[in-house]
Amino acid sequence: MPTLLITGSTGLLGSKLARLARERYRVVGLGRAAPDGPPLDYDFRPVDIRDRRAVAALVQGVRPHLIIHTAAMTAVDRCETSPEEAEAINVAGSGHVATAAAATGAHLIAVSTDYVFDGESGPYAEHDDTNPLSTYGRTKLEAERRIVAICPAACIARTSVLYGAGPGVRSNFVFWVLGELRAGRPITLVADQTGSPTLADDLAALLLGLAGLGASGLFHTSGSESINRFDFGCRIARTFGLDPGLIRRGATAELYQPAPRPKHSGLVVGKVTRLLGRSPLDVDSGLAALKRQLETAAP
Ligand SMILES: NC(=O)c1ccc[n+]([C@@H]2O[C@H](COP(=O)([O-])OP(=O)(O)OC[C@H]3O[C@@H](n4cnc5c(N)ncnc54)[C@H](OP(=O)(O)O)[C@@H]3O)[C@@H](O)[C@H]2O)c1
Repeated sequence: MPTLLITGSTGLLGSKLARLARERYRVVGLGRAAPDGPPLDYDFRPVDIRDRRAVAALVQGVRPHLIIHTAAMTAVDRCETSPEEAEAINVAGSGHVATAAAATGAHLIAVSTDYVFDGESGPYAEHDDTNPLSTYGRTKLEAERRIVAICPAACIARTSVLYGAGPGVRSNFVFWVLGELRAGRPITLVADQTGSPTLADDLAALLLGLAGLGASGLFHTSGSESINRFDFGCRIARTFGLDPGLIRRGATAELYQPAPRPKHSGLVVGKVTRLLGRSPLDVDSGLAALKRQLETAAP
């Protein structure tokens, strides 16, 4: 069985990958620390990707055929207020992973974001010009460039507004909305931030599909539909039988977020659809799949 090293295996996407990949790969996961709770059911190694030597030693020891690099500082506002940390993790850390991949000949797939765009004219295709507005977007774009400079055959997979559920998976936009609406609390969602919501399970399947084909180059790998946060919230409410009347339409300016957000972002997924022969899930299909998962998992 080939070996797959997943960086960020304890995160939302990484944990989905770790579960899905084990049919085809021996899975080794990397994160800063194992999460609290039941022990992980794969080979987990605590390594900080800022530590170049530790990353190199791990990869030399594990000798993965494939590395899927999901680890990142993903909190967009924290990146804005702690830019040195964002740089160290997202740029330098990604460079360490790429250097280790190059030294061992492992194929590398690295996950990036639609925040590399300014959101003036999304959704965006792979050939569109980048222009990040935030430290998060800038560091992820620098990471893309550093990775490709070190590993020219790497695959960069950009995604957008990830959501999903599972044991140990941290909360995300969909769960926050569900929690508030189930509690009957009114919420405000902005109508001037558009993205392409992506079920983490679907993205994990897309990435393994790309891996199976040995894909290299840039791919947009998000959900297939672009939608603003307000409309997304209303679709969440309807899918889960909750009251969309609790959702107030708001504007980004009301939120006073430290990091600027792209207004009309989101990704065009024609390239990955053509290569894999299937489209990523749209908003309603992704939410319906999540609902089925939660119903199946319910005691
Ligand atoms: N979430 C989104 O909406 C979104 C949208 C577009 C693109 N993306 C991209 O998709 C990828 C996956 O996102 P996600 O939402 O699954 O992320 P996440 O849930 O925030 O998980 C991040 C993972 O990275 C690990 N990590 C962070 N800093 C690390 C370090 N210094 N050394 C080692 N591991 C470290 C974390 O481990 P610890 O917990 O141990 O630190 C965790 O396992 C990221 O590359 C992100 O930029 C996400």
